[in-house]
Amino acid sequence: MSALRLFYLILAVSASIHAITYNVTVPTEWWQTNVMYEIWIESFKDSDGNGKGDLNGIKSKLDHFVDMGVTCIWLPPIYETPMVDSGYDISNFIAVNSLYGTLDDFDALVTAAHKLGLKVIIDFVPNHTSDEHEWFVKAKQGIEPYYSYYVWNKGVYYGDYLSYPNNWLDAFNDGTVWEWVDEREAYYLHQFSVHEVDLNWRNPFVMTEMKNVLTFWLDRNVDGFRIDAVPYYVESSTLENETRSDKDVDSTNYFYLNHTQTKDQPENYPIVQEWKEHINNYTVSKGNDKVRFICTEGYSDIDYVMKWYDYGDDFPFNLNFIRDGDIANEAVLDTAEDIYGIYVKWLDNMPSGKTANWVLGNHDFSRIATRIGLYRTDGFHMSVLLMPGVFTMFNGDELGMTDTYLTWEETIDHFACSTTNTTYSLISRDPWRTPYQWDNTTSAGFSTNSTPFLKVNPNYLTVNLATEKEADFSHYKNIQQAIALRNTTVWREGTVDVELIEDQVVGIARQLDGEEPIVVLINWENSTVTVDLDNYFDGLPDELSLKIADIYSGLSAKIGDTYSKSSIELPEYGSMVLLGTTSA
Ligand code: GLC
Repeated sequence: MSALRLFYLILAVSASIHAITYNVTVPTEWWQTNVMYEIWIESFKDSDGNGKGDLNGIKSKLDHFVDMGVTCIWLPPIYETPMVDSGYDISNFIAVNSLYGTLDDFDALVTAAHKLGLKVIIDFVPNHTSDEHEWFVKAKQGIEPYYSYYVWNKGVYYGDYLSYPNNWLDAFNDGTVWEWVDEREAYYLHQFSVHEVDLNWRNPFVMTEMKNVLTFWLDRNVDGFRIDAVPYYVESSTLENETRSDKDVDSTNYFYLNHTQTKDQPENYPIVQEWKEHINNYTVSKGNDKVRFICTEGYSDIDYVMKWYDYGDDFPFNLNFIRDGDIANEAVLDTAEDIYGIYVKWLDNMPSGKTANWVLGNHDFSRIATRIGLYRTDGFHMSVLLMPGVFTMFNGDELGMTDTYLTWEETIDHFACSTTNTTYSLISRDPWRTPYQWDNTTSAGFSTNSTPFLKVNPNYLTVNLATEKEADFSHYKNIQQAIALRNTTVWREGTVDVELIEDQVVGIARQLDGEEPIVVLINWENSTVTVDLDNYFDGLPDELSLKIADIYSGLSAKIGDTYSKSSIELPEYGSMVLLGTTSA
């Protein structure tokens, strides 16, 4: 295991500067410097012309990751599935979704990726199985041990009237978590879709089964796992009702209740720890020192999220730029202070010696460019990429892809299809799952089929990889350059200092003795501002040179120019990466 250095905090206070400088955990293992790239398989690249993405499609595009500087790809569920929830509803954990290819295709993809020096992480989805999984089919027939793999309840009688055991609601807004099965005269529990049946994590047989699943994929040489929905594994055994939240929503809406009984239960944590130990034991049993990592997905308040670090998790996803702590609250990214606050919240709360994580987008929520506007997107990416730790990126965000408008008829997300033609757009996840925009040919180069599974964003004629690679300045090129700076010693080992400047700029400085510093400045507002870095950062050289700039503010014409640190003018929404002058 790695000898992680301690992460600690120095409070440097001087007459004019009230800066907090954080020392970073110096990376010693490959995953700690990762840009981890989420590939939405269905929409990434179609190899056989059926209008849906597949594993061979990904294999044909591996050069893209090398070109961008991405070191690790994350594949969402690749397993056999009825596709009710885009593959998160798994009917066989050890078989490949036939829409995506075969197990041989998967092996070939992993081998090809490894040859190029890329790591491959897969989704592990242990909260539930599909209702079509063989275990559940047998459970419904009352066959043990499978019946006890799930959470059942006989319900409660009020006189002659049988009702659910409590008021718990599922996260997909279908209403109760309890679904009646006539054959068993009992309800089963589902925290997500009614077709995603919760496993009973109080049953040790379930742990054994799922460890076997991990082993199966470890044998296929994966480099780690993204672990799905960690706050939901165990529910309170008292079955107490949940209390009413302060949200003004319909009574079947998930946010109607405070999820004190169904989320973030203490029993969840040791479960993940056991998987990590299983993975470590596997490595030892193979007599090699291959390093794998795990990371976890959970939208919860910061204390619950940070606790994962103490239970074998290499890092929990930092989803605070997407939701404000709990999943019920949208992240507020309106001001520079909001952004600054989220950075500092993570750094202040992360335990010693751990690796940070930053996420701007994923397959569950609106694209970052849509949420904050394209003008701010470059700067935001530069800032997260130059913070210490792992950056987790959603495919297409490197191009400035935006959400696609889809009509009710075009909508396929089950989550939205269970609503109405007036409300679907509030919850549909299709708008950010549309095909990747490779070029300006048929279906944006995603497929030879002109009617892909979801329509292509009409902006593909200008927003696409080929065009952005040809342009002198583009979102893609900026991201590529920012990723390249992660190979510097100052990025790996330098301190990090995040500042709120003039109430409208977020400033980040990475510094290390003997190395040229990296400074990122992002002006979050639509007004010009001049900043004096001396008021905010200690130890910067007098002059800095402009290395990367956003593509809209006009700053890109000034690449290579030298700036005095005491007077840097940032146009509206302008963002810059500046380097010490000798390294520019
Ligand atoms: C996670 C996935 C989401 C899925 C849910 C249920 O939150 O990211 O897409 O619907 O788990 O598996």
